[in-house]
Amino acid sequence: MASRVVVGTQWGDEGKGKTIDLLACKSDVVVRTSGGNNAGHTVIVGDEVYKLHIIPSGILYPETLCLIGNGVVVDPKVLLEEMDGLIARGVTCENLRVDPRAHVIMPYHLRLDALREAARGKNDIGTTLRGIGPCYMDKAERCGLRICDLVDEKRFAEKARAAVAAKNREITGVFGGEPMDAEAVISEYSEYGKRIKKYVADCSVITFEAIKSGKEVLFEGAQGTLLDLDVGTYPYVTSSHPVSGGVCIGVGVGPTLIDEVIGVGKAYTTRVGKGAFPTELFDETGELIRNRGGEFGTTTGRPRRTGWFDAVIMRFAVRVNGLTGVAINKLDTLSGIGDIKICRAYSIDGAETENFPPDLAELERCEPVYTVLPGWDEDISGCTSFDELPENARRYITEIEKLIGCKITMVGVGPKRSQMIYR
Ligand code: GDP
Ligand code: IMO
Ligand code: MG
Repeated sequence: MASRVVVGTQWGDEGKGKTIDLLACKSDVVVRTSGGNNAGHTVIVGDEVYKLHIIPSGILYPETLCLIGNGVVVDPKVLLEEMDGLIARGVTCENLRVDPRAHVIMPYHLRLDALREAARGKNDIGTTLRGIGPCYMDKAERCGLRICDLVDEKRFAEKARAAVAAKNREITGVFGGEPMDAEAVISEYSEYGKRIKKYVADCSVITFEAIKSGKEVLFEGAQGTLLDLDVGTYPYVTSSHPVSGGVCIGVGVGPTLIDEVIGVGKAYTTRVGKGAFPTELFDETGELIRNRGGEFGTTTGRPRRTGWFDAVIMRFAVRVNGLTGVAINKLDTLSGIGDIKICRAYSIDGAETENFPPDLAELERCEPVYTVLPGWDEDISGCTSFDELPENARRYITEIEKLIGCKITMVGVGPKRSQMIYR
């Protein structure tokens, strides 16, 4: 029995949802520990497509306990809509729990996210406008409302009234925006609180006890390493900690309780939102990857920027997450694309480096140094073992493995449960 962390190694959307769904079949507990409904995790079961934003991707297994840890920011309206959507499709949510310490995304967070982005003008971050940044700001400022407040009707009314008044001063005074009606917010959100109350439980205790009793626990990462508030491409990042270290804080368990850290990446690179992206493609190959790979945001529908696989990024992810294994998804998307490039290093101001630069200004000056490998034309979406893959596809994977210094244990050749090769 083991506890495993699954993290995104790039800028999100690496296929974490699919990978977690696969690993969840043998997990007793699946825990989300960071981010909120800025995430969009796609799980495909047969002909059914599930797009999960806040509920852990283990929910499709009725026996698996699904936890939303204290590090997650919860929009209660979205949570309930997602639960209702799943229940309508025959998926039970009786196995869901929410930590009382998780912070609540309030309607003024959504409004402030939009106002702040508009005020940034051409320097906007390209956020998902889900109120994530403003909610984490309040958490750090120590004026946030938590799930334990939301489910206590009287306490919630008092805190929300004061919070809306304070936020209205900012909304109108700083941004010239429309104020919010505190009583309307209280009456709407109190109803959400009543419905959520029965799902509230101390997820730190549940997780700790599950690990101690030898159960299989899976920590579901959201976003990706380069979107991490501390080690990511700041300021073009999210406001949480998607790296493996964030898991411990995000549910309240210590690092010695974690056995494995699996990094999920794509066979190429994508990014939604703004910020430097050294291997970005602006030509027809980039367009081809976008269309073939269906690279349009799960949450916002925005076209994802596309580029070649970047081994500098993956090496960075191996280091900052302490990866014990890597899953590479979407190898099938590269079939028939011609020669394939892998960025093995960056050239900056005439010198080569294999390390991801900490300063965005430096990253913007980095030129990728490529290794070019021959591609393959075969449709690989039906391959079930590594040996079945065309020689050039195998070579591509082993070359990446060499460059990143970590074992690639899974290779995705399609979005379905059956389309994963285990090594
Ligand atoms: P997440 O945010 O990391 O969970 O990833 P998303 O769900 O946002 O985006 C990944 C997309 O790729 C989804 O549409 C998946 O169904 C799809 N996908 C995952 N793995 C594979 C794969 O190996 N091949 C193909 N073609 N699609 C995949
Ligand atoms: P999953 O879990 C891809 C990006 C946004 C924006 C930046 C900040 O599906 O991989 P935010 O709304 O978080 O303040 O936006 O972070 N972003 C993601 N990009 N996948 C995600 O999640 C993302 N979550 C946030 O596009 O650039
Ligand atoms: Mg996604």
